[in-house]
Amino acid sequence: MKISIIGTGYVGLVSGTCFADLGHSVICLDKDKTKIKSLSQGESSIYEPGLDEILKRNIQNKRLSFTTSYKIACQTDLLILCIDTPAKKTGEPNLSNLKLSLKSISRDLKKDIFIVTKSTVPIGTNQYIKNFIENSSSFKINIISNPEFLKEGCAVQDFFFPSRIVIGCESKASREIMKELYAPLGLPSQKFIYMKVQSAELTKYASNSFLATKISFINKISQIADHANADIHEIKKGIGSDSRIGNEFLNAGLGYGGSCFPKDIKALINFEKKFKIDHSLFSVVEEINNQQFFIFYKKIIDAIGQKRLKRSSFMIWGLSFKPNTNDVRDSIALRLIRLLTDQVKHLYLYDPEAIRESHVYLSQYSNITYCKNAYEHMQSANALILCTEWPEFQNPEIKKLHSLKDKKIFDGRNVLNKEVILKAGIEYFGLGS
Ligand code: UDX
Repeated sequence: MKISIIGTGYVGLVSGTCFADLGHSVICLDKDKTKIKSLSQGESSIYEPGLDEILKRNIQNKRLSFTTSYKIACQTDLLILCIDTPAKKTGEPNLSNLKLSLKSISRDLKKDIFIVTKSTVPIGTNQYIKNFIENSSSFKINIISNPEFLKEGCAVQDFFFPSRIVIGCESKASREIMKELYAPLGLPSQKFIYMKVQSAELTKYASNSFLATKISFINKISQIADHANADIHEIKKGIGSDSRIGNEFLNAGLGYGGSCFPKDIKALINFEKKFKIDHSLFSVVEEINNQQFFIFYKKIIDAIGQKRLKRSSFMIWGLSFKPNTNDVRDSIALRLIRLLTDQVKHLYLYDPEAIRESHVYLSQYSNITYCKNAYEHMQSANALILCTEWPEFQNPEIKKLHSLKDKKIFDGRNVLNKEVILKAGIEYFGLGS
């Protein structure tokens, strides 16, 4: 099948590359010429395990190509929209990139077409897309909402082994073309969930906000555990082993970040306000996420002492919003760094993949040094702060941690072995543990 992907961010690039690997002929479009040039040479703009190899393989066998031209991209059976929809200040998703793209599509379209939306878009957007293109061209559009559930850091794995494929569509022809698109995955029919377009649009928001709620729930319990001298690891085991609850997304810590959860919760609150529905649940989810950040920050200030802060330096492990990605958008680590830089002597930062990306966001600060490895400059730091749970941080070389001047570790993701650290004579501060 011949398909075109509009937008080569995380979702577009991973989906396009993987669809090509399934045997489809794929053209990926982006307005960014530099990005398209390096992608055409097989250089990925993102760090995503497994992606580079599939990208190179499919460029070589000519199933995958890149363009900035809508004329070329519109010569297809199926257009898949993967355009970013960042949150405006009001929380409302910003659809201006999507609208610009629709203008170009209606200008260059030469036949009736199926348009699949993978971007997370407000309820009603697919209908808007259909009306917009049908009113500004002479062609008929079949709209399909096919939200993505790829997690950064394991997006390739999620693509080839999806938990489910949600398809919101309004015609038999749309169902058939989506079956054909996913057929090479060889999934059992129960994995395909067909529904109304509006239901599919809302399913994406509901899914992400449920997970964010689960995180805020366990974080609230961790706040109680801190005061009750209970251990959040034990509580997680205690509740997560109930199959109705499950133990995924029950890791207490610094809270959720990234380009999806914060934006999607804000969007849901915005819809509720628009529909004049009570918005207390998701507002509290957001508030707890914010509380966790300040509780952790206060633990650092209290342990070091406000007066000594100006003379203290910190080693920070982890800059990306979660492990196995170089994405620093809405990263809690960067938020903490921005808050601390003005108040401390120096910050030493290390991340296995996200140092280059962090430079862009932290360029205005002069008291920052980027480290070549996790232990470089450890002896210059008073304490260690862990913000992102990369696997290499989880079993640290205890001997090297001894060089911390104040012998204190703040574990923002609750992943270090508290017993081992305490035994080594180092103070440990977690969240609920
Ligand atoms: C999310 C959804 O999981 C995915 O289905 C959707 O398509 C896009 O949004 P992603 O943002 O890549 O994926 O990351 P995810 O693994 O969901 O983590 C989001 C945030 O929650 C991260 O900051 C992570 O650190 C945090 N988190 C996750 C926790 O704080 N605790 C947990 O138990 C799990």
